[in-house]
Amino acid sequence: MSSRPSRSWSSGAGTAGAARDLARGTGTAQGASRGAAYGDRFGATERTDPWWRIPILQAVGLLILIGYANYAAILGADHYHYVANGRDYLSPFFSPYVHPAWWPFSPALLVLVFPLGFRATCYYYRKAYYRSFFADPMGCAVGEPRKGYAGETKFPFVLQNLHRFFLYAALVFLIFLWWDVIRAFTFDGRFGMGGGSLAILASTGLLTLYTFSCHSLRHLVGGNVDCFSCAVAGGPRQKTWGVVSVLNEHHMAWAWWSLLGVCFGDFYVRMCSMGVFQDPRFF
Ligand code: FES
Repeated sequence: MSSRPSRSWSSGAGTAGAARDLARGTGTAQGASRGAAYGDRFGATERTDPWWRIPILQAVGLLILIGYANYAAILGADHYHYVANGRDYLSPFFSPYVHPAWWPFSPALLVLVFPLGFRATCYYYRKAYYRSFFADPMGCAVGEPRKGYAGETKFPFVLQNLHRFFLYAALVFLIFLWWDVIRAFTFDGRFGMGGGSLAILASTGLLTLYTFSCHSLRHLVGGNVDCFSCAVAGGPRQKTWGVVSVLNEHHMAWAWWSLLGVCFGDFYVRMCSMGVFQDPRFF
């Protein structure tokens, strides 16, 4: 094992609580050594659990879903909207729909920069793609490809700090997406429900849970406060923070389900528009 350079950045991973969590997360008995790995040969580890399984599954899942999203947004601009027999279903990739005459490409490209930036800078997705695509690190206590560590202080990774601003944009997007849900439940001016209504509701509902479980939102409502009872609007803030905290515990799950949901929402609208699906109407 090589001698390890000292690390000048602290992530808090050395605290007793974090150490317990790490031990739980890797299945290693408390007190047993899992090896430090920083500064070790790339891929070297003392771990015996299948630590490589999650990065591989994440890589496959992201390649499939992001591949589909790219196809739909860039090449699939002909079937983003299904308007027939009272139905008005808009693909979530194309919402809000903006298509000025001077723009020669798919209109999705004008709006997707915001949801894309929100996901790309998300704390969970960062962990996922750093592990799965950059192998940096591939897992806790697994040797890294680089010997230096600059955190996210240099270009392009310093841009990850824009996450909170993408959050603000995502909150605005939710308004448009919920408007699309209302349209999807409106048939010829009256309340109704079809298969597409449910697909669009699921997509927007999961996106809402993902957005409201965001770490930055949790900080926005409850962070930077010494005590809630001394803060302005402390009571409502504490309640909101409590709800966001409950959702935040499952942020990874919401990240995956919402990505799946938005792809399914687009897929459903696309299949209806192409005439592949006959959309059922329930009432
Ligand atoms: Fe994942 Fe904000 S941390 S969306």
